[in-house]
Amino acid sequence: MSAPLSTFGVSRDGGDDSTDALRMEDVALTDIAAQFGTPTYVYSRAALTNAFRRLDAALAAARQGRPYLICYAVKANSNLAVLNVFAKLGAGFDIVSGGELRRVLAAGGDARKVVFSGLGKTTDEICFALQTGIKGFNIESEAELYRINTVAASLDKRAAVSLRVNPDVDAKTHPYISTGLKNNKFGIAFDRAVAVYKQAAQLSHIDVVGVDCHIGSQLVDDAPLLEAMAKIVALADELADAGIHVHHICPGGGVGITYSDEDTIDLNRYAAALEMALSRSRRGLKVELLLEPGRALAGNAGVLLTKVEYVKPTEAKNFLIVDAAMNDLIRPSLYQAHHEIVMASPANATAPKRIYDVVGPVCESADVLGRGRTLAASEGDVIAILSAGAYGFVMASNYNTRTRAAEVMVDGTSMHCVRRREMLDDLFASEMVLTPDLK
Ligand code: LLP
Repeated sequence: MSAPLSTFGVSRDGGDDSTDALRMEDVALTDIAAQFGTPTYVYSRAALTNAFRRLDAALAAARQGRPYLICYAVKANSNLAVLNVFAKLGAGFDIVSGGELRRVLAAGGDARKVVFSGLGKTTDEICFALQTGIKGFNIESEAELYRINTVAASLDKRAAVSLRVNPDVDAKTHPYISTGLKNNKFGIAFDRAVAVYKQAAQLSHIDVVGVDCHIGSQLVDDAPLLEAMAKIVALADELADAGIHVHHICPGGGVGITYSDEDTIDLNRYAAALEMALSRSRRGLKVELLLEPGRALAGNAGVLLTKVEYVKPTEAKNFLIVDAAMNDLIRPSLYQAHHEIVMASPANATAPKRIYDVVGPVCESADVLGRGRTLAASEGDVIAILSAGAYGFVMASNYNTRTRAAEVMVDGTSMHCVRRREMLDDLFASEMVLTPDLK
């Protein structure tokens, strides 16, 4: 790891190389493990706030008074406390289900700042979104456009829509999180877009409001994002030629974070380049700029705390068996993603430094949280898996009948449980056997 600990929202008294306990804001992570147990996700309110403010400041500087809206992608981390932090900062939200809309409302978010993405919106979800008065729908197919028109007509409402177009740009990221290529299931083909916009403009209960795209996630170079932006600005110009005037343009999310030592996208440069792309509009478009960042706001504001259950040296390698597993954090198993792993407990002079594969207890060889990590750990020590604030808890499952982790938010010197650890009774509560006497 070459990025400083502060990149990951944590620190040690005495500097990165000190042997002290790991802290988040003013709280020792070992205190959280002692109070709430492990595995536990821990989020920093200050880190969430700072990430939002950095992006907000970059956009404010680039836009010079012209309108913009940061719509936090709820899927990255949908804990109510996290959503509430962003709602209080004035964020909008990018949702992909009726469930996420319910969360945004429960967390105090403003429905009028919500955009609804996702390619399989159900009639019930569309109804609910129209009734709450969301800002608009990002539409992913022609069939969806007609469905939304019909539902809006039945409610005697008008639906504000953008098309999520597929700009056929290679995001050069992991294939599972690349979404802007022709062969992806997402979006409306770029060369069909004008025709579909024309149909949309004819529909009785549809208002065309924007152009949207999203090409992928964890991009560490802004070139593909800017290529997509240039394409959607040109599309908006072409629409204006056809008499269709959009109010906003959205290049999606996708800004990557540092997981080890990646030099990722500079937000000031990115915001300025987006503005530059808008200024190249042939028609002098005056539009609101929307962004849908998820990972960039939450990823490095969270860690997953886990305890060492066993140290298992074998002939081939050493294993550190911890109490978190792929059901808690699936990114390493699913995408071969790298997360830094560091000691949260203070250094233990008796533990030898060894190279370990850090593994969970799930019965799958893929249940590896980190390979080849040098750690001086012994049974009972607490370790922290970094950069776990986005796509961590939200992707957790109950595989192997494991209850999902607790979630805690640190705010200065205080720690708040923002989701209690799931209990086995929670898991069984909605199951039933065929006969009451179990025969
Ligand atoms: N907008 C849309 C339409 C999206 O599909 C996504 C993410 C975002 C915004 C937010 O993207 P971000 O700023 O977070 O890159 N589970 C994967 C990531 C999947 C991302 C899916 N779409 C992972 O753990 O890497």
